[in-house]
Amino acid sequence: MTASYAPEPYRIKVVEPIHVPTAEQRREAIVEAGYNITLLRAQDVYMDLYTDSGTNAMSDRQWAAVMVGDEAYAGSASFYRLEAAVRKYYGYPHVIPTHQGRGAENILSRCLIRPGSHVPGNMYFTTTRTHQELNGGTFHDVIVKEAHDAASEHPFKGDVDLAALEALIREVGADAIPYVSVAATVNMAGGQPISMASLEAVRELTARHGIPVMLDAARAVENAWFVQQREPGWSGHSIAEILHRMCDLTDGACMSAKKDSYANIGGWLAVRDQDLADNARSLLVVFEGLHTYGGMAGRDMEAVAQGIEESVREENIRARVDQVTYLGDRLLDAGVPVVRPIGGHAVCVDAAAVLPGVPRDEFPAQTLAAALYLDSGTRCAERGVVSAGRDPRTGANRHPDLELIRLTIPRRVYTRSHLDVVADSVIRTVEAGRDVTSGLRFVHEPATLRFFLARFAPVREGGLLG
Ligand code: F0G
Repeated sequence: MTASYAPEPYRIKVVEPIHVPTAEQRREAIVEAGYNITLLRAQDVYMDLYTDSGTNAMSDRQWAAVMVGDEAYAGSASFYRLEAAVRKYYGYPHVIPTHQGRGAENILSRCLIRPGSHVPGNMYFTTTRTHQELNGGTFHDVIVKEAHDAASEHPFKGDVDLAALEALIREVGADAIPYVSVAATVNMAGGQPISMASLEAVRELTARHGIPVMLDAARAVENAWFVQQREPGWSGHSIAEILHRMCDLTDGACMSAKKDSYANIGGWLAVRDQDLADNARSLLVVFEGLHTYGGMAGRDMEAVAQGIEESVREENIRARVDQVTYLGDRLLDAGVPVVRPIGGHAVCVDAAAVLPGVPRDEFPAQTLAAALYLDSGTRCAERGVVSAGRDPRTGANRHPDLELIRLTIPRRVYTRSHLDVVADSVIRTVEAGRDVTSGLRFVHEPATLRFFLARFAPVREGGLLG
């Protein structure tokens, strides 16, 4: 049965009109975008579930904080407010602001990864792995096998397979592993959390080998929520306590403040080690900006600092995750194959199961994403072969086990009736896709992060894309 969710802990003060493009406009728009939903103009989109990154609605308190942003080039008061918020809620002493999450990943990867390095992680993320590879590292997926199975009900699909991590350390040697990269939650697995027990076990194993642990904290508050709800022994702890405890088990973190922190831009790298902080700051001034703004305006740092405080409030995180669960439950009720359990930021539909007749190299998820847009003007993201890119050694398309479209819910933006529009459209599109046997082919394929700028054409006329 579809669950209802608790009333939103806010009311709406400012509205932004949206409109439904006609079927003809949608057809023209998707052709012009080369069948890549990323290349659609936002004005041609009705429900924009491409990402929850930077698409948050800010609160009145955040907008008020924007007004007092200190735009000093050096020593901005807004930086010190941000630094204090990160220290208080995440607990790292050295806070290095960046323009967004990948800015932090770039700096961290340049500091620690060398040709021949091996970086284990609980599933790849696109930008994270790209920075690791650009610096000569090799990524190794050490997530539990359940994470690759859309139907598995494992409550912590973000957990690390400790035996796999141990085997890698034995094989390549601890010296070749600059750090273990741990994401909370795991985006590419569908927003699945890592348990505190798994993080503790990773900590214990890596400490024995002197290997640091770096957290991807983009959605760590959402992870803390799942720990509180699902993990034995944690129900009595606050979200803020759990978040802090997770960070305590790591040596540093990369943060995209465009997620949990309700901001539209911003990020940070935070570390415990003084030497690493010094190195990171000297790279920061080359690639991002001075160490007291790192690519953000003073007003952005204010919005992030205020957003961090709002993000750990129980009523906010409950409303956020419950909304995602509502959409997931509606699809489950209709028999749509979705990644289970429903994750923290998105509902992911198993495109390979929806379009079994479409070969992987004709991109079932990209095809389904374009079809969903044609049906209702809903934009989702592709998380399958296109996002996975090519293996740098063989040049072949990577075939991840999961071939998904991701319906990502921006925070505090859409209402339940919007989610019903989306659910009805997904159900219709899935029904229409049953007997389809062809998908898309590349017309233009960029060398890195190809999913952003690639262009496609239908392999054959007819089918799901008309
Ligand atoms: N890590 C994770 C887990 C992410 O989801 C993202 C961004 C980043 C790092 C990079 O942060 O965008 O601020 O540079 N994810 C967005 C998404 C793009 O749609 O999932 P960024």
